[in-house]
Parts: sequence; structure tokens; C-alpha cells
Amino acid sequence: MLNPLLLLPPETAHKIALFACKYGLIPHAKKPETLKKEVFGLQFSSPLGLSAGADKEAAALKGWGTIGFGFVEAGTVTVSPRNGNPQPRIWRQKKQKSVVNWMGLPGKGYHPFVNNLKRYRNNNQNSDLVIGVSIASPEGVLSDFEKLARECAPYTDYFTLNASCPNVADHKDALKNITDQIKATVKHANNKAVLLKLGPTEDKDALLQTLDQATKAGAAGFVFTNTVPPTAKNLLGNNNQNFQWPKHDGEDVGGYSGPQLLDITEFMVKTARKHLGDDVPLMGVGGIQSGADAQRIIDAGADLIQIYTGFIYKGPKLVKEINNALA
Ligand SMILES: Cc1cc2nc3c(=O)[nH]c(=O)nc-3n(C[C@H](O)[C@H](O)[C@H](O)COP(=O)(O)O)c2cc1C
Repeated sequence: MLNPLLLLPPETAHKIALFACKYGLIPHAKKPETLKKEVFGLQFSSPLGLSAGADKEAAALKGWGTIGFGFVEAGTVTVSPRNGNPQPRIWRQKKQKSVVNWMGLPGKGYHPFVNNLKRYRNNNQNSDLVIGVSIASPEGVLSDFEKLARECAPYTDYFTLNASCPNVADHKDALKNITDQIKATVKHANNKAVLLKLGPTEDKDALLQTLDQATKAGAAGFVFTNTVPPTAKNLLGNNNQNFQWPKHDGEDVGGYSGPQLLDITEFMVKTARKHLGDDVPLMGVGGIQSGADAQRIIDAGADLIQIYTGFIYKGPKLVKEINNALA
């Protein structure tokens, strides 16, 4: 049976899910002891995390741990408040269990976000939930990265730099900009690990070049992958023939997430693991919707995995399924 929230429009369903999570109206799941692992000096109670974009304001942190996640990547947060793109901006493709989102990084800015983090830390000192903060500056302003790193560092366990959001028109993702952004973040992150989240690619040489440059700039690890933009729709393969991209002003918009990302995630994790050796932390995200999918990405070399779209369709029972499969 599918998640009953799927009967509601996507953003309404999301708000209700966050409310339920924030106020504990959710199933409590015990995480099997054997899931515990240490990665980049942090103790994870499960290698399964909630990926960025689901709790943009860090508003429901406690609930994610209760459901069974070992970590959550809160955000993506920006310095200033943003409206994001006009609605509608999330489209479900129920048959494929996929989503196209064109959110455009909406949010209230860093101030309420940091207050939420602070409150969570003060009230949950014995929590075993690892918290990452996903940061971005849609205009690529280096001082934004410095500010976000400085403000969030006291309350986060690690940072992820979202250099791959396909939904921000003026986003410059040239390698030089990314390496400068990593350096700016690392400088103010108070020794918290800074990971880089990349967009999907099957271009091995370009991927290796990015990994090398980002590592040199101070990235401690990597997260693969963000959603597939319409410009890269060929990555989704032949199964994509009946797929309708949403349009705005006649243009295809948004980023695809869902099962057809799994092969790309596996490719990127495998390629990175082979190139970087065993010690660099890698997180796999994209297309994981079952215990078997999760195992596949771990087998490809990921230390940790994240989900979002699968959670939209299956809810907390997917968390349980993956934890049990990995235990
Ligand atoms: C509605 C929606 C909003 C998202 N927002 C963000 C975001 O703010 N920052 C980010 O790094 N990724 C964001 N993502 C991408 C996810 O974190 C993830 O990388 C992607 O959806 C692939 O994983 P999945 O197939 O499990 O969903 C978003 C995805 C969705 C569906």
C-alpha cells in the first residue's frame, strides 16, 4: 500500500509529514545494534540518512531519529530568505515512483535555521542522531559560505556544500567556483568535515577531475548525487521515453529523482571509491527505494546512504526495511 499522504498535493503532504515528525506523531523504530558504525570520526547509529531538501528549516530533527534514521542532512540553507520558484514546483510521477522538483531553494534564511539547530542541541544532548547542514549560495557569493559555516559550525556535525542544485538559474557550478566555495567553508567550519554534493554524471574523466580538485581544496568527502536536470535527461536512459518533463514558459524545468538514478549513483560511488581509496567518506543518494537498493550502493563503496523520494512514496516503513536489510 502506498503512503496515504500521496492523495494530497505534494507540498501539503510535505508540510503534514514535517508536522507529524516535529510533534512525534510517528512510529518509533528501534535501530538494530549491528548498524552502528564510525565514519569520519562520527558515531552513526545507522548508515541511513534523510537527504537534503526534506527538512529545509531543521524543524523536525528529533522525529527523524525516532523514525530510524541515523543522520539527517538539514537544509539546504541559504543566508537570505528566498521564495524559490513559483508553484507548482513538485510533480510526482506515481507510476515510476519518481518526482520532479523545481523548488529553487526556498527558505527562511540562516537565522531561524540556526535557532532550530541550537534548540535541538540544547534539548537533546543525549541524541544519537548525526546532523549535517547542507549549505548553498545561489549567486555563488563566497562570504555566504563563510557566514553559513561560522553560524552553523557550533551546532552541526558536518557540512555538505550543495554545488549541484539544478533549480537555481544563476547557479555557477564551474570547478573553480566550487573549489573556492570549499575553501571558504573549510576556513570557517571549525574543523567540522566539509563534504561536496555533486550532480549526476557518467563522464568519468570530469568526475575524477572534480574529485581531485575538491579534495585538494579541502573537501573531506563526497555525496552522490543530486537530481537530474532536463539538460542531462539522456542519463535516465530508454525507460524515460514516456516521461513528461514539467514545463514553465515552454521550457522543461526541475530535477528528476527516483529509481532511474540508482545506476548513476552506483557508478559515481564505485568510480570515486576506486579513485580515492578506502579512507575518504562517501555517501550514496539517488534512487534508493528498497533494502536491496541500499545494499547495492553500500557494496559499490558508500559508507553511508541517504533517501528522499523513496521516503515520499513508502514513508517510515522504508526506513525500517533498509535498516533491517543492512543489519
Ligand atoms: C522535493 C525535493 C527537494 C530537494 N531539495 C534539495 C536541497 O535543498 N538540497 C539538496 O542538496 N538536494 C535536494 N534534493 C535532492 C535530494 O537530496 C537527493 O539528492 C535526490 O532527490 C536523489 O535522491 P532520491 O532518489 O532518494 O530522492 C531535493 C529533492 C527533492 C525531491
